[in-house]
Amino acid sequence: MKGHFPINKFKDIATPFYYYDGDLLRETLNTVKKEAGKYDKFCVHYAIKANANPKILNIIRENGLGADCVSGGEIKAAIKAGFPSNKIVYAGVGKTDDEINLGLDYDIFCFNVESVPELEVINELAQAKGKIARVAFRINPDVGAHTHANITTGLAENKFGISMQDMDRVIDLAQEMKNVKFVGLHFHIGSQILDMGDFVALCNRINELQQKLFNRQIIVEHINVGGGLGIDYAHPNRQPIPDFAQYFATYHKHMKLRPQQTLHFELGRSIVGQCGSLITKVIYVKQGVNKQFAIVDGGMTDLIRPALYQAYHKIENISSEETPETYDVVGPICESSDVFGKAIDLNKTKRNDLIAIRSAGAYGEIMASGYNCRPLPKGYLSDEFV
Ligand code: LLP
Repeated sequence: MKGHFPINKFKDIATPFYYYDGDLLRETLNTVKKEAGKYDKFCVHYAIKANANPKILNIIRENGLGADCVSGGEIKAAIKAGFPSNKIVYAGVGKTDDEINLGLDYDIFCFNVESVPELEVINELAQAKGKIARVAFRINPDVGAHTHANITTGLAENKFGISMQDMDRVIDLAQEMKNVKFVGLHFHIGSQILDMGDFVALCNRINELQQKLFNRQIIVEHINVGGGLGIDYAHPNRQPIPDFAQYFATYHKHMKLRPQQTLHFELGRSIVGQCGSLITKVIYVKQGVNKQFAIVDGGMTDLIRPALYQAYHKIENISSEETPETYDVVGPICESSDVFGKAIDLNKTKRNDLIAIRSAGAYGEIMASGYNCRPLPKGYLSDEFV
């Protein structure tokens, strides 16, 4: 499938904006459902942090996925989009009392607990409401992922989760508490992972921990392996839908699930990444020393990934059919890191051409900021243009 843009419909829309291909999103979700559905008791949640645009959430909710939230704001966004509260899981190292109370009020499916003090607060707050909170422990599996250092989360040095050596103690503690029910274990090793070996390493670690628990006659109902499946940023047209078949098969093959256990996933990027592009307009083409700049009206405030993680996003001039030339594509923000790409071949570019920055559906719109007093970019779904 080729990235098609209804460019004639774009002319009345203020740039920069996000454009989401609703058909690709639906196809992606169908593939997720088909591939996860091959295995008994695989349950997929969407990680709201990747993109909380209500139009996107609506389509995902229609497809029956649960919601993985990391803040009270995300819980509210999920509820507003119609996700049933019994399909909401809530993680985060720093849940505030207000956020925990919100989760309790909605009777969410599960709190993924990351520390003993948090467990104590959840128990107290649940007691005050006369409720019993379901909790899973986020265990830091000390498994590295072959991805950018800023988005690897499962190493002992990272701030996330409870260490493996503390697991038994924390479970004992929970079992003594009256207002929490220990229902599962949660893991997440990082994001943009393309090497299935990383997920195999996580499975092996979980199998070890499960065996340890099994020796104590403990079988948890729920194992949550987080998200992390990556996408092909270099070739968004070649592989618009990630290889979910291989991903779920890897877990099926390597995870030793007990018959009564459900395996949960929290996928963000792989679901929404390829359906979104940032559409931005060329303001000026400027000749530099031995190079030329395409200066566009979108910047790091609209899509921060290149500036923050040196992330690669494919850039295309969708207005021009002319012979390619080489440009540095830069935004208007007063920061030298406000660069989308250096030495990029684009069809010969002129003022007012539209540029698509591809694979921006995940961690794009949601990470936008108002720096330089800029307005936040809007997001449009392809369905709105037919
Ligand atoms: N579950 C947990 C506990 C997480 O921390 C994350 C992402 C996910 C699920 C979803 O992971 P995904 O399937 O999207 O890889 N802003 C960064 C990515 C940060 C990811 C944070 N955690 C980026 O733009 O690359």
